[in-house]
Amino acid sequence: MPTIRRYRPTDRAAVAEICIRTGDAGGDASAKYRDPGLLPTIYALPYVEHEPELAFVLDDDGMAVGYVLGTADTSAFVSWFRRVWLPTVEVRYPPPPSSARTPDDELSAALHRPERMLVAQVADHPAHLHIDLLPGYQGAGHGRALVGEFLGALRGAGVAQMHLSMSRRNTGARAFYDRLGFREVAAPDVPGAAFLVRDTLAP
Ligand SMILES: CC(C)(COP(=O)(O)OP(=O)(O)OC[C@H]1O[C@@H](n2cnc3c(N)ncnc32)[C@H](O)[C@@H]1OP(=O)(O)O)[C@@H](O)C(=O)NCCC(=O)NCCS
Repeated sequence: MPTIRRYRPTDRAAVAEICIRTGDAGGDASAKYRDPGLLPTIYALPYVEHEPELAFVLDDDGMAVGYVLGTADTSAFVSWFRRVWLPTVEVRYPPPPSSARTPDDELSAALHRPERMLVAQVADHPAHLHIDLLPGYQGAGHGRALVGEFLGALRGAGVAQMHLSMSRRNTGARAFYDRLGFREVAAPDVPGAAFLVRDTLAP
């Protein structure tokens, strides 16, 4: 029976792999990008580097098969991403050309513009998260339990409000968040994305 535990540095490669296997609106993104390593460089690894205390994994026999990770303070995370994270990764991932919009270019643009995470409509919900489980571990209650761990950690840190952004194509995840008490906030400037918020103190 898989169990939830805190993230450890030895989970890093498994976390990156899970991010790739679920990175195309919940489906496998490995064939979508020339270098799929860009996905975890944006959406998973900076979080475990910056706030490992907010990262939890689903462990099956010593192997991470799912995770929830995030930040308590999106604004502080964005500053750190620009100042510390980007310089460490931009040798491997230089800025994209201004034309030629391949899927890799789109991702690279996201990497090089961390300020995209500062969305006015959710600024009063400072924390945000990402959650992904390998396909064989979905639909068994682990996602609910992982979000519960994350919310508990936020409450322990005195953070009362959180948000997340997701692809509107990911209808399964949207049903999941609805079941967990998230509600949508309109943010029409970000096409294709839905922004959901939740009070960490709500049951
Ligand atoms: C989305 C995800 C994190 C949900 O975790 P999960 O373990 O599969 O979900 P759970 O089993 O904990 O489900 C919790 C509730 O959500 C509902 N739910 C979960 N997935 C659902 C789906 N695809 N359609 C409808 N309802 C769903 C469950 O029925 C359950 O409801 P209940 O507890 O009231 O009976 C997981 O499926 C996943 O990692 N998917 C691929 C990656 C992804 O899309 N990540 C989110 C990116 S925004």
